[in-house]
Amino acid sequence: MERTPEPELMDGEEQARAYAQADFREPHDRFVALLQESLPDLPEAGTALDLGCGPADVTLRFARAFPLWSVEGLDASEPMLRLGRAGVEAAGLSARVSLHQAHLPEADAPRSAYDLVFSNSLLHHLRDPSALWRCVRRWAPPGAAVFLMDLLRPENRAEAQRLVDLHCSGEPEILRRDFFLSLLAAYRPDEVRAQLEAAGLGYLSLRVASDRHLVVWGTRRRDTLPRVRAGGR
Ligand SMILES: C[S@@+](CC[C@H](N)C(=O)[O-])C[C@H]1O[C@@H](n2cnc3c(N)ncnc32)[C@H](O)[C@@H]1O
Repeated sequence: MERTPEPELMDGEEQARAYAQADFREPHDRFVALLQESLPDLPEAGTALDLGCGPADVTLRFARAFPLWSVEGLDASEPMLRLGRAGVEAAGLSARVSLHQAHLPEADAPRSAYDLVFSNSLLHHLRDPSALWRCVRRWAPPGAAVFLMDLLRPENRAEAQRLVDLHCSGEPEILRRDFFLSLLAAYRPDEVRAQLEAAGLGYLSLRVASDRHLVVWGTRRRDTLPRVRAGGR
């Protein structure tokens, strides 16, 4: 099945509220567990950047699992950030977690470099997927860790509908529709592999992690720039 892009930002109030109220315990706890398993050598304390943090559910789960880390989340959607900031406040984690309005890839982050750059479910939203990999290169310097999880495009629409019924039963229609459209907009592992190669990040690992998720992880390497000979020839 060909990919069908979906709108990049989730900036509708109702859409943001439905997303923030959804029960993402299972995939978001798994995100943190897979991150811990994939990056066993993370230092005890550090700085992390969450790209496309939305209402900060993953951001907060990460912060609870890594109590000596600080996390900054970026998202372009104000409704998502409003809900996220309320969640950070309610969790009593404002000293370590902050959220910032930023349209990627052009916006700035509070710091120029982080010990870990992570992201959940942003890639399939982007009009140009290279935007995400440019952000990784920009904010994860050599030696920094990288971990991303995203949806995996199913073989056909019937399979996408089956996954919606299996994992999103009992959720509001707006959320079921979003999930269906997100599955249609997601990338296949070979497409993500090609994106990584094109971005000079082909050494990062990639694997299918569930019936609907893939993960990418690793440590950022120093760039190997093409040599320019003396005299420019
Ligand atoms: C599916 S949500 C994922 C939110 C969060 N990471 C999570 O796992 O719950 C995708 C988020 O990416 C944001 N987004 C999409 N394109 C963006 C862009 N170009 N710059 C910044 N945020 C973007 C959307 O506004 C939305 O909040």
